[in-house]
Amino acid sequence: MALTDLLAWVPSGSPDEALARRIDADRLPAHVAIIMDGNGRWAARRHLPRVEGHRAGIEAVRDVVETSARLGLRVLTLYAFSVENWKRPATEVGTLMTLLKRYLRLEIDALTKNNIRFNVVGRREGLAPDIQHELGSAEQRTSSNTGTIFNIALNYGGRAEIVDAARRALTAGLTPDQLDEQQFARFLYTAGQPDPDLLIRTSGELRVSNFLLWQIAYAEIWVTDTLWPDFRRRHLLEAIIDYQKRDRRYGGINQPALAGR
Ligand code: IPE
Ligand code: IPE
Ligand code: MG
Repeated sequence: MALTDLLAWVPSGSPDEALARRIDADRLPAHVAIIMDGNGRWAARRHLPRVEGHRAGIEAVRDVVETSARLGLRVLTLYAFSVENWKRPATEVGTLMTLLKRYLRLEIDALTKNNIRFNVVGRREGLAPDIQHELGSAEQRTSSNTGTIFNIALNYGGRAEIVDAARRALTAGLTPDQLDEQQFARFLYTAGQPDPDLLIRTSGELRVSNFLLWQIAYAEIWVTDTLWPDFRRRHLLEAIIDYQKRDRRYGGINQPALAGR
């Protein structure tokens, strides 16, 4: 898909259309990763139980996934459940898992229609068997799709991923002299995918909370005070517009600065 597919979808004359037109289709981030945060606070502001925030957050997921596919992003990664989130009350964890199952059942056709490939990143063996089954079936049903890869980070931890990658590299028999950054990355959950160019966090928190630690080495970070259930297409477009104004130097110096010397 491409920007034209997004423009065909947003109401003409709307503020979202104006935002979409400001995006340079040739300089899209290849990979956008999002820390979906603030569901609990969204609910608390409405005097609702925390789980209502998670329920409301599903609409934001739907909107962002479809926007990413229509824009033609190569990869979208959503942080849905961290290895640390097991510390939460069992009832909250249970609701999150039930919502995940429901989301997959309801959305699988939309994912396929939008040519999205669904992929789980995280320690899936630590999830309940029925969840693993549901995830596996969504991956299988979308495996031949060639559009946006939608990574869902579940039972995910950045440090856990690095440890798992090291273990796999050892199991594969890599010798110390064979191991370099490129070889190591082949053993990460995101092997073969571009690193995130843009990392978004909602709800104003200025931390990475153990997310994609290896891969975000040079990601541009965009934080919004908007709470996840209120996040919509327009916020993603705003983040991309902002990203396109950034000067990415990767530790070097940019050309105009060089020319001035
Ligand atoms: C993000 O919202 C959802 C998950 C971590 C699963 P939170 O539940 O962390 O909401 P806050 O941060 O408490 O508001
Ligand atoms: C990060 O949010 C994890 C997910 C979005 C799944 P948290 O709410 O768990 O992070 P902290 O506790 O504020 O760092
Ligand atoms: Mg939180």
